Amino acid sequence: MKKDKVLFFDTTLRDGEQSPGASMNLKEKIQVAHQLANMGVDIIEAGFPISSPGDFESVKSIAQQVKGPIIAGLARANEKDITACWNSVKYSKKPRIHTFIATSDLHIEKKLQKTREQVFDMAVKAVRFAKKYCDDVEFSAEDASRSDINYLCSIVEAVIAEGAKTVNIPDTVGYKMPEEFGNLIATVRKNVPNIDKAIISVHCHNDLGLAVANSLAAIANGARQVECTINGIGERAGNAAIEEIVMALKTREYYFNVGYNLKTSEIYKSSKLVSNITGIVVQPNKAVVGANAFAHESGIHQDGMLKDRNTYEIMCPEAVGVPESLLVLGKHSGRHAFTRRIKDLGYTLDSSIQETLFEKFKILADKKKCVFDDDIIALAEEGISGVKETYSIDYVNVTSGVNVIPTATVRLKKTNKAKIETVQEASCGTGPVDAIYQAIDKITKMKLELVDYSLRAVSGGEDAQGEVNIKVKYKGSVYTGKGTSTDITEASAKAYIHAINKIVVMQKGK
Ligand code: KIV
Ligand code: ZN
Repeated sequence: MKKDKVLFFDTTLRDGEQSPGASMNLKEKIQVAHQLANMGVDIIEAGFPISSPGDFESVKSIAQQVKGPIIAGLARANEKDITACWNSVKYSKKPRIHTFIATSDLHIEKKLQKTREQVFDMAVKAVRFAKKYCDDVEFSAEDASRSDINYLCSIVEAVIAEGAKTVNIPDTVGYKMPEEFGNLIATVRKNVPNIDKAIISVHCHNDLGLAVANSLAAIANGARQVECTINGIGERAGNAAIEEIVMALKTREYYFNVGYNLKTSEIYKSSKLVSNITGIVVQPNKAVVGANAFAHESGIHQDGMLKDRNTYEIMCPEAVGVPESLLVLGKHSGRHAFTRRIKDLGYTLDSSIQETLFEKFKILADKKKCVFDDDIIALAEEGISGVKETYSIDYVNVTSGVNVIPTATVRLKKTNKAKIETVQEASCGTGPVDAIYQAIDKITKMKLELVDYSLRAVSGGEDAQGEVNIKVKYKGSVYTGKGTSTDITEASAKAYIHAINKIVVMQKGK
């Protein structure tokens, strides 16, 4: 018998990008969208077009370039939002307008300052207006899980009557328990007379750590679209993690008895790509994609595994695309092996960028005996970041030690149109990194607040590269920066400059 399919609606580029500090630039978004298409997601929510000219452009570019999935854009329930949404998604062969309005009394009264009747009217009119542009319209009842059930059902019925093909029931604040949320979906199915004309979708947030459990409870009760993100990133505690939902459907096939189009073997690549681009590190014990998800440490477990993998492994690493043996490249590896590896790691780069990366790879391979996948990912990230380099490092010297005041001298190149000038400053600090950052602040005349700094070894070995991820605050907004080098002071300086270059681009845009 043919199984019912669950559609995967990925919102990494919209709700995921709303995670503090996760903003991605155009090239990065396109890169992620291509990988989502490779992974076989059914719908990509590419952004919220009215929210900024940058978002509009990225939704438009993804609609133009990414083939396969439906490309959706988000729009509030008003004509201006919906028109902007259409003007960006219309370039896709399969466009979707996703319009939403809150339906809980709390949101209606406090946030929207409207009445239930007004919201009902706005929802109906929004879907009617969107249908003039596009056949594929999705309606979301924001905060549905805290809405009056009869009111929610009446709105769902009305928007389906207007032609909404998907009706989304979000648990916007991650409030529901799985049993309650499952029952809510069952009630919508039972009480909305025309529900067979639409697909029920769910969109669960993770405030109580239940986003995946609630999405699965919804599937068990008839939802056939789940909205989720790679690594579960998203507003506040995040959204349901796509990799956890699909692996539950795969591992417990007979429990759920549903099909899906997602290629689970692409999960690892997608997870790495999103984590590297956003700088949001995946916790080691995270289900499915954490570094320890398939590691067996205790003797008893290792013994069991050697006798039969099923003793302690309910899914195998290959199923999610964890490379069986991480291929190691070195200074004798050629261009072919390098470009092949880049592709296997999920990057689609044009040949000029590949060539530049190959040169950088050769320099790195001279410094390090073995170049691991993570080293290559770090190189690729630098290559695709596409942030215009207003500032670049020319020289850094830092002295520090016991009973020494940490002091740094930094020289930066500043490119302004065709003009390049070199500026040098020195500064003391509480430590070597602080001294470098203060010297850079003097040069750029921008005072940034460092809110997060993390350093990790990109790969194993004494000659490993250090990767520095930072978050800085400037004029109320948070920006991320990343730098890699075999020298950690250089990596720290690179990360700071990376964040500054992003700020310069954003400030110019404003
Ligand atoms: O969390 C939410 O309710 C949303 C809607 C816009 C779908 O993100
Ligand atoms: Zn959301």
